[in-house]
Amino acid sequence: MISQRSDYTFKYNRSLGRHGWLRLTPAYSVKLVGRIIDDLPDTCNILDPFSGTATTGVVAAERGYKSTLFDINPFLVWFGNIKLANLSGDDSAALRDALRNVVLSATDTQDESLWLPSLKNIERWWSRETLITLAQLRASLVKIIDEPKNAGFLSLLWIAFARVAIEHSAAAFNHVSVSFQDDTVSHSKQEILLAFESYAEAFIASATAPLPGKGIVHLHNSASPFHEESQFDAIITSPPYPNRISYIRELRPSMFWLGFLGEAREAGELDWQAIGGTWGIATSRLTTWSPTHECAIHSLDTVVEKIKRTGEKNSELLSIYVKKYFYDVDEHLRSIQSALKPGAEVHYIIGNSTFYGVHVDTPDLYEESLLARGFKNVSSRVIRKRNSKKELFEYCTSATYGRAKREYRQTASENPHEHSYKPRYEQLRLLESEAKYLEKQRPTS
Ligand SMILES: C[S@@+](CC[C@H](N)C(=O)[O-])C[C@H]1O[C@@H](n2cnc3c(N)ncnc32)[C@H](O)[C@@H]1O
Repeated sequence: MISQRSDYTFKYNRSLGRHGWLRLTPAYSVKLVGRIIDDLPDTCNILDPFSGTATTGVVAAERGYKSTLFDINPFLVWFGNIKLANLSGDDSAALRDALRNVVLSATDTQDESLWLPSLKNIERWWSRETLITLAQLRASLVKIIDEPKNAGFLSLLWIAFARVAIEHSAAAFNHVSVSFQDDTVSHSKQEILLAFESYAEAFIASATAPLPGKGIVHLHNSASPFHEESQFDAIITSPPYPNRISYIRELRPSMFWLGFLGEAREAGELDWQAIGGTWGIATSRLTTWSPTHECAIHSLDTVVEKIKRTGEKNSELLSIYVKKYFYDVDEHLRSIQSALKPGAEVHYIIGNSTFYGVHVDTPDLYEESLLARGFKNVSSRVIRKRNSKKELFEYCTSATYGRAKREYRQTASENPHEHSYKPRYEQLRLLESEAKYLEKQRPTS
């Protein structure tokens, strides 16, 4: 029986301090990242080119590591940097002070005609009464601490606001997609302000837990050249999967309320830049997309052709979608090399997919690109089953850059002052034997 292992998903993170602040369904689990990090040398500079909610950065910082993260979504860059901030005692006192003033100001505000975000069909998300309170709370936050982009560490209160807005919406995040209850529920002003206060208090408490390491998130398209040269010892990351899931779908309420999106079309524009994005204009642009560079994944054409030949309504479009996804991935793996130290180890958590019954063997295609781009010791192992119905799995595809892993290990142990190794966790061995079993179950195309 192949397990879905919810402990290897975002679900595991919900009660873990900073990790539980805001949900992103495709976020990976703290446990999974921790296991990879625990097998790294003690002095390691870690890179995550697809930061998302900065899980890699926070787990690395909790273990005393330095990390650099990139994401294409400005909201996630902003959010990741708040998650990675170390708050002083004075900072938390200032936050508590600001919290008190925001709640007082929101309680006093009676204005019912305040600014609302241009989120499409906003009335499906919140009742009129709830919207008025959210708008009043938002206006108070702007007055007391400024807009999210200008509020510095006080932005933690904006995260509490985003959490309250989501929790009081009619949206259900059952799966990776968002569905809506038939009717929006009305929440009283008192209920919303109380929830805001208690989230903010809890977030301030978790943000004061010191992070011994350091991490920073930058805005960057990871399918374009990196400016960092030979800096990183390891990549731990989870890029988008070729499954047509757009992060915008889940993040857009927070992004609109917090001013990271203004007009509806901006969401599609942003998603077009993202690997595997399909939101709004990002899907129609596919029809005119053509590659601008060579792709080193030669078996890609066969898969793309198979999808196209199914003759289904959207087979042509989806074949281009898969093609573009892997062209972007290959470009990423080509670009990332200059940022890596020789011998650096890379770990990509990725998922396979199917289109009209055609299996897209993501780990195989990543492996082909990695080998062509100068990586060695390329291998993949199954992490978990993703979905109860389909043959969808999550894998960890790993490799070393330039030099063989063994040489890297030898070099490290020749210089014991530079690197020392942590013992491999017993659980990791268990995980590996389980993975070998799961590997045998891997579907063939
Ligand atoms: C699967 S999520 C990462 C989740 C993350 N591991 C976490 O735990 O939250 C993939 C991320 O890649 C980002 N992304 C997509 N295309 C990108 C690109 N071209 N450059 C940088 N980031 C990109 C998305 O915005 C998204 O946050």
